[in-house]
Amino acid sequence: MATSSSPSLRPRRGAFQTALRTWYQAHARELPWREAPSLYKTVVSEFMLQQTQVKTVLPYFARWLEALPDFAALAASPPDRVLKLWEGLGYYSRARNLHRLAQEIVAQPTLPRTVEAWRELAGVGPYTAAAITSIAFEAPEACVDGNVVRILARLTADRTSFRDSASAAKAYTGLAQSLVPATGPGDHNQAMMELGATVCLRHNPRCAECPVRKFCAAAKQGTPEDFPRLAPKAIEQRQLVRVWCEHNQALLLHRASASARRFANIHELPLAQQLGLADTLAAHGKLLSRHRRAITRFQITESIHAAPAPRQRLAPDLVWVPFDQLDTITLSGPHRRWIRAILAGK
Ligand code: ADE
Repeated sequence: MATSSSPSLRPRRGAFQTALRTWYQAHARELPWREAPSLYKTVVSEFMLQQTQVKTVLPYFARWLEALPDFAALAASPPDRVLKLWEGLGYYSRARNLHRLAQEIVAQPTLPRTVEAWRELAGVGPYTAAAITSIAFEAPEACVDGNVVRILARLTADRTSFRDSASAAKAYTGLAQSLVPATGPGDHNQAMMELGATVCLRHNPRCAECPVRKFCAAAKQGTPEDFPRLAPKAIEQRQLVRVWCEHNQALLLHRASASARRFANIHELPLAQQLGLADTLAAHGKLLSRHRRAITRFQITESIHAAPAPRQRLAPDLVWVPFDQLDTITLSGPHRRWIRAILAGK
């Protein structure tokens, strides 16, 4: 397997590091967490960038830093404010973990500086721990995500088939680690991310612009898109029926409990079952809109149907929210868009 023994790359790693660093110094995008960097900016940006693209993160990052400029402000903030600032970014457990992490940091007498210490903190996996410690503390730790896997699989033209991207990341950790320089490991990691995001693209990679092309076995073969080899995801279809129930200028919403795993404290249009209605019955109500979205391996179709206000006593997680207060609560991003569109069409 090329991941554990890449004869052509490891011996030339000094030249590889220099080519990558020189390119990064000339081509790094100007990103707000790279200007006057601080540990706090690094942590917030790395949490926001988990599963999310840079261009989506930019406006959130700016608002967040304005509202919560440091760990102390974040630690002291009410949870609803933290969640509201995250509204629309998705994967909300990141916001809760970041909040808890700030509270843990301000409670500790000294800052954690090693990957092991960061791994103990809320929401910090191997990638985030390596990113934070290498960028903020110059720790020589490799970040390995999908972008880095793609670069390494192409550099080595490694034909190994991986079950999923997590197992590929694990397999490439050794090689990635051997390429990290002792000086400037944070810049090296960011250069790898930058290369993956702007040059070594999944489709139509820009090999002509690549600073490390001469080290790349896949480019030599002319088949960079063949790498990495990952098993295709088995897609599952899901149909969800949601209910639009309004009464006295208020909309009925489901607020997930504080202990819910994914959507704690976030409001969404209720599912038919959450109102005690069978999907088939709810689907008799007027269809207001239909949406398709992909979440992980699920292809989800959601239809929103009008329904009369329920007569029974409501479960505590169902709440009437006056239309003029919808802006003050936290809705999941797609639900805010759907609700706005339905209200605009009324
Ligand atoms: N993705 C994850 N961390 C990043 C960073 N620091 N810069 C750009 N993209 C990233």
